[in-house]
Amino acid sequence: MTLPHHAPYDPINPAHHADPAARLADARDRCPVSQPRPGVHFLARHDDVRAVLTDHEAYSSVDNFALEGGTRTVDLPAVPITMADPPYHTALRARLRRWFAPALLRKQEPRVREIVAGVLDAWQPGQKAEIYHDLARQVPTRVVYAFLGLPEKDWDQLHQWADAIDGILPELRTDMPEFQALTRYLGGQLAVRAAAPATGADVLDGLAHPADGEAPLTPVEAVIHAFQLTLAGTDTTASLLTNLLYELLADHTRWERLLADRSLIPAAIEESLRHDAPLQYVLRTVTQERNISDCPVEPGERLAVSLQSANWDERAWGAHAADYSLDRPAGQATLMTFGYGIHTCLGAPLARLQARVVLEQLLERFPDLRLAPGYRHEPAPDVVMVRRPARLDVVL
Ligand code: HEM
Repeated sequence: MTLPHHAPYDPINPAHHADPAARLADARDRCPVSQPRPGVHFLARHDDVRAVLTDHEAYSSVDNFALEGGTRTVDLPAVPITMADPPYHTALRARLRRWFAPALLRKQEPRVREIVAGVLDAWQPGQKAEIYHDLARQVPTRVVYAFLGLPEKDWDQLHQWADAIDGILPELRTDMPEFQALTRYLGGQLAVRAAAPATGADVLDGLAHPADGEAPLTPVEAVIHAFQLTLAGTDTTASLLTNLLYELLADHTRWERLLADRSLIPAAIEESLRHDAPLQYVLRTVTQERNISDCPVEPGERLAVSLQSANWDERAWGAHAADYSLDRPAGQATLMTFGYGIHTCLGAPLARLQARVVLEQLLERFPDLRLAPGYRHEPAPDVVMVRRPARLDVVL
């Protein structure tokens, strides 16, 4: 699929974002390192994306969410992990990583089941439902609040603040009332934990009490890390759940195959992650001269690193990379959806766990689930970093 004229994919152009396949294919074929804006290079090929995300010495994560507009690292009261470079990043990641260890995540599964059941108990077969708002947004927010150790009585309020903040990302404004309210709330929770003996029970406790040999975090650092964890895994996981269900229902034979054989669930999730990357790209700033696909890049220039295009690259994934297939062989190429290298997503196992539990319970309770008559897939407007439909209407 090639375009009649060579219009470089621009990651912050809503029209390009809404229908990216042809432009990204064209970029991969004809111009793997394009320059959609002055000082910004767009990377389209799988191997370039992987090489750049591996080389953290030449590519900094500072200002990771700011291209034109967006939130600059200096505007924040402390550096969140996704915008940090080594050595600060190394120590912070070691501190946070223990909460995402497989054994601890396995312990989360009963709670995740309970949270998914809590949403689905209100639904009846034959009813209409809207998956994004009524299920996909509900589950990851509650799972993350439980994972952090935030009291359940506050979850609805937290969800409201998070919705307001998610609605304007990546243009986070630290003077917006919801940011102020959420960070003040998290500061209060952390202060209560810090004043009590360490329990080791949850992430908030870990942020309030350093482990042996760890330097204590300042209160402002602890708040920013708690804030990032509150938001990092919610709309991304909500997008995964919505995209996954859309692909399974858009061709109902896929849903029927899962009904007949639950062992296909992991393949369905991996293929959704590949085919529809919730976070479309990440940003880096060049700090050392390099060549990428024979194109020189200079210190100070920005790179928009397309996780989505890497996942659709025929060179890595074969001729049918653009198709959603339950039969895709495992391990064909490197999935870029969760990033790669030192910043690889810490929450990937938690996102996969939620997708599995949601699918298991929907298949069990609503085997006749289908798209609502007349449903049309429209990409969500105004979220150029995120891939998902604006809504997903179904009949249960
Ligand atoms: C489908 C869901 C998710 C997607 C697509 C996703 C995507 C990503 C990506 C692409 C990165 C790398 C950013 C970069 O290299 O600049 C990242 C980092 C991160 N993610 Fe996720 N994420 C998801 C779910 C979660 C969840 C559930 C959590 C935790 C509750 C989480 C926590 C984090 C953290 C803490 C980092 C920073 C890691 C670091 O900088 O070392 N994510 N995520």
